[in-house]
This record gives sequence, C-alpha cells and structure tokens, in this order.
Amino acid sequence: STIFVLNGPNLNALGKREPGIYGGQTLADIEAMCIAEGKLLGFDVDFRQSNIEGVLVDWLHEAGEKAAGVAINPAAYGHTSIAMHDAIRAIAVPVVELHLSNIHAREEFRHKSMIAPAVKGVICGFGAQSYILALHALKNLTNTSK
Ligand code: DQA
Repeated sequence: STIFVLNGPNLNALGKREPGIYGGQTLADIEAMCIAEGKLLGFDVDFRQSNIEGVLVDWLHEAGEKAAGVAINPAAYGHTSIAMHDAIRAIAVPVVELHLSNIHAREEFRHKSMIAPAVKGVICGFGAQSYILALHALKNLTNTSK
C-alpha cells in the first residue's frame, strides 16, 4: 500500500531556508529518508511538495481514493487553511500532521494549527525525524502488511 507524504509552501527551499530552524537537509534528502523508511515499514511512499493551497487540497482528495494514509507538513498553510481542514475531514484515510520545528516554541502566530482538529495526531519539533515518526504512527494506524 501507499502512503502520501505531502509538503506545503516553501519546503522546496529546505537546506538553504533558515537552516538554524529547519536543518541543513534538503527536501530531496528527506524524501530519500522517507522512501527508505517506508521500505522497512512495508509501504510505498509517494512524496510531493506544492506551494499552492488548492493543489494540496486536490492531493488530499486523491489520497482519499488511493492511499492508505497521509503524512502532511502543511507548512504555513497549516496556520491558515480551512480548505485543508475540510479536505482532511472529507477523506476516510488517517492523516498525521507534522512540522520540522516546534511550532509552540516559536512566534504566537505559529501556535495555532487550523488542521490539527481534523487529523489523527500531530508531531513537531524533531527536525527531519518528525517525518519518520509520522510514518511510524501511520504504520500503527493502518496495520499495513507487506
Ligand atoms: C513548518 C512550521 C511552519 O510554521 C512554517 O510556516 C513552515 C515549516 C515546519 O516544518 O516546522 O513553513 O511547518
């Protein structure tokens, strides 16, 4: 089965974007980590990034049709997007929200997640490891077998 790993705006710039906050790894590095961990856990990882809110909404709907679960780093749209909240509620597959940084230890405007009430759970603050933890959470939620 397939897990979608979805990434929101500005995450294409990881590696050069505020490395003190987000780490030195590029999104391609994180994609490779996720694909390797997916192999160990027994699922294929379909890893995507968009800077466009509506594209992320479309991918959530697509995940509802063909994925076993979704790990999503909504980036800044997590703080603003009712459309993503609604899209998550519209699909039956489990969704785990993740962030590289600890959003609660940062500016006030990052403390609130608009999608958090719609997801199974939230992982934040562990850098690239947040993605791996989200995949493990999905493994438990989906009971996928090889
Ligand atoms: C982020 C945290 C968000 O507040 C920010 O807008 C991002 C990245 C993270 O992974 O830590 O773009 O989602």
